Amino acid sequence: MEASTRLQKLLAPIAGDMDRMQDVLLEQVRSASPAVRDMTDHVSRFRGKQLRAALVLLSGDATGNTTDEHVRVAAIVEMIHLATLVHDDILDGALVRRRVASVNQRWDNQVAVLLGDFLYARAFALSTALSSRLCSRLLSDTTRDICVGEIEQSTSRYDFDISQEKYERLCGAKTASLYAAACELGARYPGGNEEVGRLMWNFGWELGLAFQIKDDCLDILGDEAEVGKTIGRDVEDGKVTLPVLHVYRNAPDELKARIRDAYTMPGIENRTARLSDVCDLQPGVEFAIQRAEELVRTALGRLASLPPGPARQALEGIGEFVLERRF
Ligand code: IPE
Ligand code: IPE
Ligand code: MG
Ligand code: MG
Repeated sequence: MEASTRLQKLLAPIAGDMDRMQDVLLEQVRSASPAVRDMTDHVSRFRGKQLRAALVLLSGDATGNTTDEHVRVAAIVEMIHLATLVHDDILDGALVRRRVASVNQRWDNQVAVLLGDFLYARAFALSTALSSRLCSRLLSDTTRDICVGEIEQSTSRYDFDISQEKYERLCGAKTASLYAAACELGARYPGGNEEVGRLMWNFGWELGLAFQIKDDCLDILGDEAEVGKTIGRDVEDGKVTLPVLHVYRNAPDELKARIRDAYTMPGIENRTARLSDVCDLQPGVEFAIQRAEELVRTALGRLASLPPGPARQALEGIGEFVLERRF
């Protein structure tokens, strides 16, 4: 079965709420300005996988905590994710996102900065209209963590001495933090239930970390048409991700030097191909995938204490999807 169909099937139990989530999102980013409308149409027409919104809803269902505000919480999480993508594509100089031109490519960096800001502002405006402050509080902390993660990642470029621990800390901050917050909010919004909130936070953290590790593998070996976004930018931009780090750490000094040279060779568009020429990245990808599998295993183990049912089953399916995904 094709991966996108599999995902659709997985999310079938919450399809109605996902549609309502999308309606809330569209309503919230509506603008009187035709220029802004062009851009919000562009970024909201192509939905993406919407995994983080789905995690809010499924974590709610799986823990018996769903409220009539969960759909709005899910929309807020998805809007924050969208804002991070718009900004991330500027940082990475990415040309394609969700199979279409990125905002920075279709317009330019200046408006992409502002559109990202606009999306953050609309997300937090909606969060302040909710009955509990929990969503605003958790997501403002999460947004801070994402920014810190992206900043630290930027200042760690070309650092081949980075430890796996630090790599995972950066991935955690920039990606796993939003997965964790989505799951925690699903499980305990509007408040209380701290224990189950912590359980689902941990589940989301491990899942999100695995998601980013897999993403870093796709950036090296994925097929751009299938992934639907610009790939190869990690190497071009000096990001030493887990697959490369593993190969580098185990390479003799002479090969280490050639790997570093590939990262800095003139003509950035040739760097990923050069890296593949000078070393076999396959063992690095296998090592990284093993780590992602271990994280997903731990994450899924946490669900054992929840009552069995379609929501828990869908969460388990998302765990498997994260590892198998090719987009
Ligand atoms: C992309 O996330 C950003 C990363 C954390 C790697 P997704 O792959 O979930 O993006 P969409 O929303 O499905 O496009
Ligand atoms: C960025 O990671 C994660 C965000 C917080 C947006 P990547 O740079 O790997 O994400 P992609 O590959 O561009 O989607
Ligand atoms: Mg990127
Ligand atoms: Mg990536």
